[in-house]
Amino acid sequence: MNGVSLIQFLIHEQRKTPLAKGGFTLLLNDIASACKAISHAVHRGALAGNLGLAGSENIQGEVQKQLDVITNQIFIKALEWTGHVAALASEENDEIIQIPSAYPKGKYLVCFDPLDGSSNVDLNMSVGTIFSILRAPEGVATPSTEDFLQAGVNQVCAGFCIYGPSTIMVLTTGNGVNGFTLDGDIGEFILTHPNLRIPPDTAEFAINMSNQRFWEEPVRRYVNECVKGVDGGREKNFNMRWIAAMVAEVYRILTRGGIFMYPYDTKDPGKEGKLRLMYEANPMSFIIEQAGGASSTGRQRILHIPPKSIHQRVPVILGSKNEVERIVNYHR
Ligand code: AHG
Ligand code: MN
Ligand code: MN
Repeated sequence: MNGVSLIQFLIHEQRKTPLAKGGFTLLLNDIASACKAISHAVHRGALAGNLGLAGSENIQGEVQKQLDVITNQIFIKALEWTGHVAALASEENDEIIQIPSAYPKGKYLVCFDPLDGSSNVDLNMSVGTIFSILRAPEGVATPSTEDFLQAGVNQVCAGFCIYGPSTIMVLTTGNGVNGFTLDGDIGEFILTHPNLRIPPDTAEFAINMSNQRFWEEPVRRYVNECVKGVDGGREKNFNMRWIAAMVAEVYRILTRGGIFMYPYDTKDPGKEGKLRLMYEANPMSFIIEQAGGASSTGRQRILHIPPKSIHQRVPVILGSKNEVERIVNYHR
């Protein structure tokens, strides 16, 4: 299947389910359109006056960049009118987003982070878009926030698009993970990274070391051992990366293995973690598990967490399976 376009790939997958009517394929095509437009807005950058602050804060109390707002609008506009979505939930909106009454509704709920790693955007470093697709409960015409609060194992599909030197879309529908590179000349995502697999072992970790003094003992122990390498009892020396964009960390792990942690810390006692369950932790955990990796809070498999609120934050430890298991063991 190398060289085929995303839409051809999706139609091929759809034909494996004879009863499928194509709504899901068309929804993913809408998401791909949104990501192409976002890629364009991000790459135009200062030429389009898109950099810098928006002068507002989101529900999470984070200062919004202009591109947080622009990309959120692009994503909503691309999905709200085509009839495949029942409602949307965005990291940037206080409340869930209902479909305007002028448009038909579909059966899917979409949670998304329109611009992940937005602190990177003015630095010309990688950023991305993350999305998670759930089914709306049967017979529900106007979904409520509660309808979104489904555990990650219920996801029908998860994906992200990374805007780096290339624009790459990574997708899972629960049958492995595939990567598609945007060919700007023809405006199509092309399957370039079929069946991405994460090696079970790694010698590379990613964590924001400036939070060290706020970590719990198990994470402190694990990172200390990585830093000491062969002198501290590990069988190898470790390398470290921190890109401050989860999309880029996860893409690196899908490419060459590794472990990424934004663990529980006591920096802000009101917060259970930094990353958001519905827009970041769940979709990335689904992708990582489907590529043969593991994902946990340290105490619980992320995909099993029953969500309590739409903007809930959770600790995240994900990547190469044997290293995640080691850290989970340190928490026992
Ligand atoms: P967002 O830009 O959507 O708010 O997400 C940023 C997240 C995540 O992508 C990244 O791993 C982490 O925040 C970086 O946090 P620090 O700035 O604390 O390192
Ligand atoms: Mn994010
Ligand atoms: Mn974001």
